[in-house]
Amino acid sequence: MNRIVVNTDRVVGTVDRRILGGFAEHMGRCIYGGVFDENSPRSDAEGFRTDVLEAVRALRPPVLRWPGGNFVSGYHFHDGIGPIDSRPRRFDAAWRTEESNRFGTDEFMRLCELVGAEPYLCLNMGTGTLDEAREWLEYCNSAGNTEAARQRRANGRDEPYGVRYFGLGNEVYGEWQIGHKTASDYVTAAREWAKVLTWTDPSIELVACGETGWSDWDETVISGLAEFVRYYSIHIYTGSEDYWSNVLAPHQAERAVRITSALIEKARYNQRLSHRIDIAYDEWNVRVAKRHHGPDDHEETYTLADALAVATYVHGFVRNAAVVKMANLAQLVNVLAPIMTSPEGIVLQSIYHPLRLFGAHLEGEALDVAVSCPRHDLAEVLDTAEAHRVADLGPFPVLDVVAWRSSDQKTLWLSVVNRAEEDLTAELALWPSLEVSAASLERVEASDWRATNTFAHPDAVGVVAEPLEGPGGARIQRFPAHTHSVISLALA
Ligand code: AHR
Repeated sequence: MNRIVVNTDRVVGTVDRRILGGFAEHMGRCIYGGVFDENSPRSDAEGFRTDVLEAVRALRPPVLRWPGGNFVSGYHFHDGIGPIDSRPRRFDAAWRTEESNRFGTDEFMRLCELVGAEPYLCLNMGTGTLDEAREWLEYCNSAGNTEAARQRRANGRDEPYGVRYFGLGNEVYGEWQIGHKTASDYVTAAREWAKVLTWTDPSIELVACGETGWSDWDETVISGLAEFVRYYSIHIYTGSEDYWSNVLAPHQAERAVRITSALIEKARYNQRLSHRIDIAYDEWNVRVAKRHHGPDDHEETYTLADALAVATYVHGFVRNAAVVKMANLAQLVNVLAPIMTSPEGIVLQSIYHPLRLFGAHLEGEALDVAVSCPRHDLAEVLDTAEAHRVADLGPFPVLDVVAWRSSDQKTLWLSVVNRAEEDLTAELALWPSLEVSAASLERVEASDWRATNTFAHPDAVGVVAEPLEGPGGARIQRFPAHTHSVISLALA
């Protein structure tokens, strides 16, 4: 018999809801035609698509990263403030398009308010200057009488926004980045930026620009910036047309976390630092190059298999709850996104559904879980970059499971991804046992792992809910092939 045993005494970390963060970049139709569309009858008076806002709110993202991504490395915040019709239209060299600047800092802050998220600004370390970054910080956070603070007031906002998170550049390691640098040049610049930004506003928390977590860049940057930053960011995208490669590749994110946290620990120890440095996985998702509709728009149609991979990514963040304190799905709308828009409405992609279930339930403390079930050996990873190989981490249990308990200790959840190609039955047990007064299950499913939600078939991948029979700490549960289930146990 397959078994899932939750060790109710062994807490592996406090779950930070910021691992359910989002990311909105000026890229393709993410902002314009996505969340913001001044000409749509579906938008409110400020230009926000109300159907998109509603779908985003249901995901309950605690934090939103903006304005990029690659876009930020050529972005000047001054262009995006003040009277909307007077803002300059600029060439965006990152995505080789034009930027109207009709959506800028105040519109982003409003978006955050509307969906209940905290803002996270990524700074332009490409064409931007330290002075400009400092002014942006003042524009957002200063209660003083400086020109930047006065500009914010003149633009209609008296109170400082109190932005907490600032990222020191985006993917500066990549030659695709405007202002690409070597690791040591980046460290030299970022140390100065960090010093002056913190002098300007000591309340901010800086995020260093990491790469994959396992690269030479990461070693140099972690040791060079540990003194100055509160978070170290890493990025990962995986994806394959091969089912098993696709659903197992997210385990690479956990290897990245292990390596990154060891490097952080080494830097903290050697430099005698006492402050925490946590991991911000501030871009992650499934991304299969072949599926993009255009060269630069990155509009991806997600399958049920992708939804299983996305759930597995979140599992990895929960399993590493002690060190992963933020993660930002790339992206929010239309571009690599759970939500797609058309002039007529929206469609919720397959990956939306596990994210909504986590959004509804995730909080509290992650618990250790032991799983006995068949394992899958991944002989090779097809269609996936060498950097994302995971085969040596296997064989992988076909049931991927995490568990967590609410802060008030009244509810315990299990999240189970069945990657197997057949239904599996497993005995669920809590050890030491806890009394369960009621149980229910929500399951992401479809008739085939290739199923996608489109405007023509918006519900091919959906969620079913079931009450579970009988109270008690142990039960036998069936997990259909290719499904993601979240079980809620009310504790007596
Ligand atoms: O999310 C899309 C792009 O992927 C981002 O702009 C960049 O940071 C990453 O390479």
